[in-house]
Amino acid sequence: EKGGYDYFMLKEIAEQPKAVADTLLGRIDGSGTLSLDEVRIPDGVLREVDKVVIVACGTAFHAGLIAKYAIEHWTRIPCEVELASEFRYRDPILDQQTLVVAISQSGETMDTLMALRHAREQGARVLAICNTNGSTIPRESDAVLYTHAGPEVAVASTKAFLTQLVACYLVALYLAQVRGTKWADEIRAVVRDLSSISKAVERVLETMGPVRELARSLAGKNTVLFLGRHVGYPVALEGALKLKELAYMHAEGFAAGELKHGPIALIEQDLPVVVVVPSPRGRSVLHDKIVSNIQEIRARGARTIVIAEEGDEAVVPYADHLIRIPATPVLLQPLVATVPLQVFACELATARGNEVDQPRNLAKSVTVE
Ligand code: F6R
Repeated sequence: EKGGYDYFMLKEIAEQPKAVADTLLGRIDGSGTLSLDEVRIPDGVLREVDKVVIVACGTAFHAGLIAKYAIEHWTRIPCEVELASEFRYRDPILDQQTLVVAISQSGETMDTLMALRHAREQGARVLAICNTNGSTIPRESDAVLYTHAGPEVAVASTKAFLTQLVACYLVALYLAQVRGTKWADEIRAVVRDLSSISKAVERVLETMGPVRELARSLAGKNTVLFLGRHVGYPVALEGALKLKELAYMHAEGFAAGELKHGPIALIEQDLPVVVVVPSPRGRSVLHDKIVSNIQEIRARGARTIVIAEEGDEAVVPYADHLIRIPATPVLLQPLVATVPLQVFACELATARGNEVDQPRNLAKSVTVE
C-alpha cells in the first residue's frame, strides 16, 4: 500500500504533481476562465465581500498565510489569517460581507470547526477548503472547494498542503474574476502558469538526491533556522514545522527582515540556516535584501542552505549548499519551494531513527480543542 516507498510520507511527497493537477482538473477551461461549481455562494454575494478571513491550524494555517498575499494582490480585498484556536476568543469583527475561508485537510479539526461555527453565528459566509469528502467542516460550511489530493496517511501533511495552496489560488483568482479587477492580464497569465505548475513540482522531485544527502549530514545538529520573505516567509515556517514534528529538532522560521531585530543573535559557527530566496524577477528589491541577509548570517558563521530559482546567480557566492527550484511567478513559488523542505525533514527524521509516518505525540486529526 506504500507503493514501493519506505514511508507513506515519501509516497505522498511523490504524489504531489498528480495531486496538484487533480485539484486544478475541470476548474480552468481552455480560455483560462475559472469555474468553481461547488462554490455555491452566488457571484453577487462574492462581489459584495469586503473582507476575507482565513482560519486554520498548523500546516493549513501556513497555506492561509500564503493565500493572503495572493488574495490581497489579485483582488485588493483585505485578508486576515488567524490560527483557528485564537480566532473566536478575541471577538473578531464579522458580518454578512465577510468571507471566512476554513482550510482543513481532515475536515475534522475541532479548533477550525469551532471557528467556523462562530463565524456563521455572526452572519459571515464560510467557504471550506478540505481534502475529506463529507467531513464535518465542509458539511457545516456554506460552500466547499475540495482539494483532490487523495487520502493522506502520514501524519505530517505534504500533498494536502500543496493542494490547499492550489485551492487558495483558485479562490483568489475566482474572486478576482467575479469582481473584474484591473489585473485581468496578470490574472490570465497566472491561470496559465498554474495550469503547468505540476510539471515544475515534478522537476523539483527529480533533483532531491543532494537534499537527502545534506539532511543526513546534519543529523547530529540540534537547531536549524529557516528564513524567508514575502511568500517565502510562510514557507520558512512550514519548513520549520516539518522539522520539529518529524526530526524533533529545534527549528524556527523567521521573516528575514526580522533578523536584525533579534534572531541574528542566535547565529553561531556552523549553525544550519535554510534561506528561501524570492524570485529575482518581479520583486527584485526583496531579492537583493535577502541576498544581503545571507551575507550577514554567513559572515557570522552560519552554514547557509539556499533555496533559489534556476538562473539566480547572485546567491551563488554565499551559498554553502544550493538547492535549485524552477522559476515560477512570484506568488506561486511556495508550490515548488516547499518540496525540498519536506524531503529534508523526512530524511532527517529517518537519519535520526524516528518514526516518519507516526511522529511521537501527534495524531492525524485533532478532534479536541
Ligand atoms: C503538520 C500537520 C498539522 C495539520 C493541522 C491541521 O504536518 O499535519 O499541523 O496541518 O493539525 O489539520 P487539518 O488540515 O486536518 O485541519
